[in-house]
Amino acid sequence: SGIERLGDMIAEAKTIVPFTGAGISTECGIPDFRSPGGIWTRNRPIPFDEFVASQEARDESWRRRFAMEAVFAAAKPGRGHRALASLYRAGKVPAVITQNIDNLHQASGFAPEHVVELHGNTTYARCIGCGQAYPLDWVRLRFDDDGAAPNCTACDEPVKTATISFGQMMPEDEMQRATALSQACDLFIAVGSSLVVWPAAGFPMMAKRAGARLVIINREPTEQDDIADLVIQHDIGETLGPFVAN
Ligand code: OAD
Ligand code: ZN
Repeated sequence: SGIERLGDMIAEAKTIVPFTGAGISTECGIPDFRSPGGIWTRNRPIPFDEFVASQEARDESWRRRFAMEAVFAAAKPGRGHRALASLYRAGKVPAVITQNIDNLHQASGFAPEHVVELHGNTTYARCIGCGQAYPLDWVRLRFDDDGAAPNCTACDEPVKTATISFGQMMPEDEMQRATALSQACDLFIAVGSSLVVWPAAGFPMMAKRAGARLVIINREPTEQDDIADLVIQHDIGETLGPFVAN
């Protein structure tokens, strides 16, 4: 079966780089983006330039974030996160590349410096001008007091979740680290991503071109199934559960 084949490939590999998308966190109660009921089936994304230009867009963006807070705060790592953390502890996985913003790889035991967050992190906020970090509670209090999304106390530019929006620059350091990881592994496992958002979606292909075997685990077909060595179209928790070490 696919899971047995995956087990063989994991056993044979020296350096495994996992690449994760929202599908790994759905069993933790966090919706993905493009499945029925997904975030982008309910809300239109707010592009970065709109966030910068409009107080109304910033208010709407923060209202959406606060509405999700109970979900993010309650979420615990799932079987997929725990399986990857087990391989990390075993020394097979140097770091995880993720498009996710939910902090669940860190919560599962990855050291922060071993989580490459291509799209940032939604568990804290940053000024888009000077980069000053803010806790979400600070934003919440200011929002409730003023009835509007706050600006930075240092430079008066807008404060945003520490995530990457459409139209916003990709983080250079993360892009470089993801490139180096993709080119240096012998097994690359894409987990729970539709692989449609670029440049993130370029890493599986980059790893494959550099000589790695490529595995794609996703319930639905993805854009890059045709270049994979193994495609497992199955639930992530069930597929990776057997690799959780106790
Ligand atoms: P998507 O919602 O595009 O894809 C998630 C995939 O996971 C879907 O193909 C689902 O079928 C699959 N899936 C969900 N739950 C699963 C489960 N339990 N088992 C197996 N498969 C499951 O999410 P991403 O590919 O992560 O970026 O989206 C990429 C980027 O688009 C995000 O990082 C975000 C979004 O816009 C930004 O906002 C910049
Ligand atoms: Zn600032």
